[in-house]
Amino acid sequence: MDAPFNHQPIAVFDSGLGGLTVLRALRERLPEEDFFYFADTRFLPYGDRAESFIRERGELIAAGLTRRGAKALVIACNTLTAAAAQSIRATSALPVVALEPGVKPAAGLTRSGVIGVLATTRTLGSERFRRLVDDYASRCRVLAQPCPGLAEAIEREGADSPQVARLLDSFVTPLAAGGADVVVLGCTHYPWAGAAIASRLPAGAILLDTGEAVARQLANRLADAALLGGGQGRLTISSSGSPAAVAATVERLWGSPLPVEPWEPA
Ligand code: DGL
Repeated sequence: MDAPFNHQPIAVFDSGLGGLTVLRALRERLPEEDFFYFADTRFLPYGDRAESFIRERGELIAAGLTRRGAKALVIACNTLTAAAAQSIRATSALPVVALEPGVKPAAGLTRSGVIGVLATTRTLGSERFRRLVDDYASRCRVLAQPCPGLAEAIEREGADSPQVARLLDSFVTPLAAGGADVVVLGCTHYPWAGAAIASRLPAGAILLDTGEAVARQLANRLADAALLGGGQGRLTISSSGSPAAVAATVERLWGSPLPVEPWEPA
């Protein structure tokens, strides 16, 4: 592969539209860059799938985005990072930025010594998550709460829907009851339901997501590789799902209509 040029877009990808919460932070920090976002809606949710499936799908998407002309890859999905970041990094010649639940900052912020983590079953069961807790939060009590169904419900029903409310009642209430004063949003879909999550926690509880940290890291990686700047602030959203259905969800979550292109990694 030829070395990338700075005028090429940055590719950002997720199982669905959770990664738009990361994309928002990336565009705030890097408004002059062009972004190509891919939502793998056809296979949403990743969180209940086998690790080998997620890893192979992640490798295929990363290769396809590279061929499509990306200058850097942002894995805007905790589940995908846990399963595939290592192999994508090992095979990609591009800067690869990934994210993981903010356990480290949470351990520095908690006063009660109890941290809640909301994430997919697959993320919380990963070796990577176990290491994160051992390395940074061994002196805390970590309440790791899997949230099956939540990412799809946020996309399909909306963050304010009765279905999301029911799921949050069962996932967030145990964290509040267990004394968590910092709650990590360990899935990029969950910031869309941030207000509903906060309303189920005691006043003053801190919610942590990783969008801004990823944006800082991406800016540094691009600067180190002399790939910063060169775009025109363009944004393309693409999906492996039905473009019309995905566009309706994008409009609801993003707050304004954006065109959605069909795209399949190959
Ligand atoms: N947005 C993904 C994450 O950050 C998960 C959603 C899914 O289960 O596909 O983990």
